[in-house]
Amino acid sequence: MAKRSVSYLLLVLFAILIIPPMSSAKKSFREQFIDNYRNNKFQAQVILVKRNKAILEQEIRKLMEEAHRPGLSFREKIELLDLASAMATMHMHWNKGSKELVDEIARLQKEEIEKEKERKSFIRGIQEVERVPGNFVMLTHFDEMQEKGLSPVVYPHWVHRLFFRCKVCHEDIFRMARGTNPVNQKSIEEGKSCGVCHNGKLSFDATSEKECERCHILGKPEATPLVDLSLIDPQELSEMAERVGAYWDVEKLPGGRYPLDRFGFIDWIALENTDAFEPASSLGTENGEKEETRDNRIFFRSTSKFMKSVIFDHRIHTTWVKCSLCHPALFKPELGANKIRMREMSEGKSCGKCHGKVSFTYADCKRCHNHKGAPPEGVLTREPQDAGRAIPR
Ligand code: HEC
Ligand code: HEC
Ligand code: HEC
Ligand code: HEC
Ligand code: HEC
Ligand code: HEC
Repeated sequence: MAKRSVSYLLLVLFAILIIPPMSSAKKSFREQFIDNYRNNKFQAQVILVKRNKAILEQEIRKLMEEAHRPGLSFREKIELLDLASAMATMHMHWNKGSKELVDEIARLQKEEIEKEKERKSFIRGIQEVERVPGNFVMLTHFDEMQEKGLSPVVYPHWVHRLFFRCKVCHEDIFRMARGTNPVNQKSIEEGKSCGVCHNGKLSFDATSEKECERCHILGKPEATPLVDLSLIDPQELSEMAERVGAYWDVEKLPGGRYPLDRFGFIDWIALENTDAFEPASSLGTENGEKEETRDNRIFFRSTSKFMKSVIFDHRIHTTWVKCSLCHPALFKPELGANKIRMREMSEGKSCGKCHGKVSFTYADCKRCHNHKGAPPEGVLTREPQDAGRAIPR
């Protein structure tokens, strides 16, 4: 009994000693090939390829299939095809394997590279268009659009701001959050969403075959004027404004051009100050109910040694947007009740809900932090009675 268990132990020991070399010898063909390939073991590779002649084509096809698996990155695909190409080339040289296989792989590689180029230029195209604040590429129905051979839609806020206040659309027609509105060709044909205006009366007709590409425009040369702000010739503004119930007098526009900020985008405050335009605040009802505005300014004393203080102007904001967009979801309507944090802005909250998306960017520090010293007269100040709550120390 004891003897048997000793010999059993020896057997196990023997097995442990012998298994590692055996398993390394049992590396798959692919593993050995990669090892030789990476380490320039040329002789070993020739022997390996000749010895495995019978299974080579099958191995190559397996690699080609794997390269087509969904979810792989471009790099992973190219690495697999690279390996397949190396195998096929050696198979051709040393085993008289087929040249067609080599060509087929070269074709696949080229296809993948083209696809990657397309993907990259597609992303670059979106970034280029969206460089302009408020230019949004709409992609929710990307697949349906592609199926019909249509480009994705570019929605340009700046073009619409030339004629409409934000309150015309937000939030009677569109919720002010991207991708949350049910916009598709059916809703447009029913006179909803874009179709409220793009019906051939207020603006061009979105159901006319001739007009599809005025919106489905991403990646086309015709999209450039949406980016360089040349789409609408200021000379045409008066006629267009009249049609939609807005007002434009290009004579009052200095030099006949839109005033620009330091980033080269329209400076809406400077434009407003020229008195050259008055966008419509509602559709149709010319003397109808006017949205409430509030005419006061609020002083945010800087809590930072390095930044000047900020003056928030209710009048500027309420001519453009409705109270309900800010109150109470973004800010409690109570002096000193809200703490403003830059981090929240950069996350698209607080003032950053608009600034950096459609209005001038929150990265333009001095456009907000521009008041030095004591608050000017007539400005509501959050201090001293409210400071305790606003800025706890
Ligand atoms: C003619 C209609 C129209 C006008 C006028 C308009 N918008 Fe919009 N707005 C839209 C549409 C369309 C979207 C995108 C909706 C979607 O993707 O579902 C949008 C989305 C937004 C968003 C969401 C951004 C995001 O990242 O989620 C903000 C912020 C916004 N608008 C601000 C404004 C401001 C500020 C004004 C006025 C200066 C304004 N809009 C004027 C139509 C309009
Ligand atoms: C409140 C009315 C209104 C709504 C809503 C509206 N638009 Fe417009 N849009 C206009 C007006 C007015 C123009 C100026 C062009 C014209 O009418 O001649 C315009 C111009 C455009 C342009 C410029 C193209 C060109 O060739 O002039 C695009 C693109 C556009 N709209 C897309 C959209 C999309 C996409 C939607 C919906 C997500 C939408 N619009 C919703 C009124 C509107
Ligand atoms: C005023 C701008 C505008 C015009 C003009 C326009 N579209 Fe669209 N279309 C849109 C918007 C916005 C969407 C939604 C895009 C998204 O969110 O992905 C859309 C989506 C679509 C879709 C995909 C969703 C669906 O409903 O199946 C198709 C297909 C489509 N449009 C066809 C057309 C055709 C055909 C024309 C011309 C007869 C046209 N569009 C003209 C704005 C427009
Ligand atoms: C849209 C207007 C706006 C812009 C643009 C803006 N800020 Fe502010 N910021 C405010 C307001 C309002 C406050 C609150 C008052 C305070 O605490 O000073 C504030 C607070 C701050 C604070 C103190 C609170 C905190 O979050 O640390 C710092 C620091 C600051 N801003 C730095 C910056 C810098 C740097 C930039 C440019 C990258 C910038 N701000 C751009 C409006 C703005
Ligand atoms: C763009 C955002 C925005 C809009 C739109 C807006 N508010 Fe405000 N409101 C603020 C901010 C920011 C404060 C300052 C809160 C604080 O001190 O913490 C404020 C403060 C207030 C206050 C307290 C201070 C005061 O002015 O007496 C009231 C009341 C108020 N808002 C009412 C309104 C009404 C009514 C409207 C529409 C006519 C409106 N607000 C539109 C952002 C806005
Ligand atoms: C609902 C959208 C919205 C929100 C939220 C918002 N703003 Fe604005 N703001 C605007 C619009 C629209 C303008 C007009 C100029 C533009 O669009 O570039 C403007 C203009 C301004 C200006 C005038 C700049 C100048 O050159 O005179 C300042 C300052 C400003 N905002 C500060 C703030 C601060 C501070 C907050 C947060 C407490 C805030 N805004 C929140 C939409 C918004």
